[in-house]
Amino acid sequence: MADVARLTLRRTRLNPHLRELAREVRVSREQLVQPLFVVDELHRREAVTGIDDVYRETADSLLVQIEADLERGVTKFLLFGVPAEKQSAAFDFDFTASQLAAVKRRFGDALWLAADVCLCSHTAHGHCGVLNEAHDYVRNDATVAELARAAVSYSQAGADCVAPSDMMDGRVAAIRAALDDGGQERTAIMSYAAKFASAFYGPFRDAADSAPAADEPLPDRTSYQLDPGRPADALASARRDASEGADILIVKPGLPYLDILAKLRDAIPERPRAAYQVSGEQAAIDALAGQGLARRDAVQQESWTAMVRAGANAIITYAARRQ
Ligand code: PBG
Repeated sequence: MADVARLTLRRTRLNPHLRELAREVRVSREQLVQPLFVVDELHRREAVTGIDDVYRETADSLLVQIEADLERGVTKFLLFGVPAEKQSAAFDFDFTASQLAAVKRRFGDALWLAADVCLCSHTAHGHCGVLNEAHDYVRNDATVAELARAAVSYSQAGADCVAPSDMMDGRVAAIRAALDDGGQERTAIMSYAAKFASAFYGPFRDAADSAPAADEPLPDRTSYQLDPGRPADALASARRDASEGADILIVKPGLPYLDILAKLRDAIPERPRAAYQVSGEQAAIDALAGQGLARRDAVQQESWTAMVRAGANAIITYAARRQ
């Protein structure tokens, strides 16, 4: 008997042309957002441990790096400012604001610049807000008031978008109101709406100087970030942020939380979603590729495809500049 071909599903997989024509999901460079770290009083830029091609930048090296990124076609950025002086209240946001202003002065509308809004890089204890006297509780409203001031300051400095990553209640509404009152109604809010208390943030906390101090009564962020076992809380958090005026909803981390992305796509289709492929995910990919166990570009592309397939419109990724 001849091998009579009864190809049904395989026929469209047989060659690259057909595979391209049949493909449903594509990732384009336009969707990628490159995180940047800029560190106060740093004299020479430093590599971020565990992640290739990402640095703790100085004020000068930041501009050089962005110029190189723009030449490669990366046009969207998320800036994390790391001030030298740590405080516990009445925070000073000038360092990050002046970096934002310098970037916008130099590059203008050739790029889109989002600023992370949080207090963890500003505090010695490393928590994302203002602590009570006993240091066992992050005070909600006192934190929100500081975040709103930060958002206005960054927006006035030229940020196109502010991205609150603290997970306090009511911060999106407070930030929107403060921006609008200050005439900054065109500044977008990209909220970390579904941000989990994840063990994948390690390299970032080194880079941003923001790990909760081990000798504090609150050793971790579980009293404000989402429990990985509570998808319903993630949905509630995202709905709440959307109703308070968030323009883009972030799901974070990325790959371990694709179910959450898909849920938001179905439940809140009117709001764009960004997946944040966090530092630990990137370090895992880079370690795999670094040991010769995967092709770096292939594994990166596959992970991005998975996020877009699950519902991401945008991806915040440390590897944007490798594209
Ligand atoms: C700070 C913040 C974190 C990240 C972004 N903003 C760390 C944290 O919540 O501990 C993580 C990003 C990453 O790991 O790449 N609020």
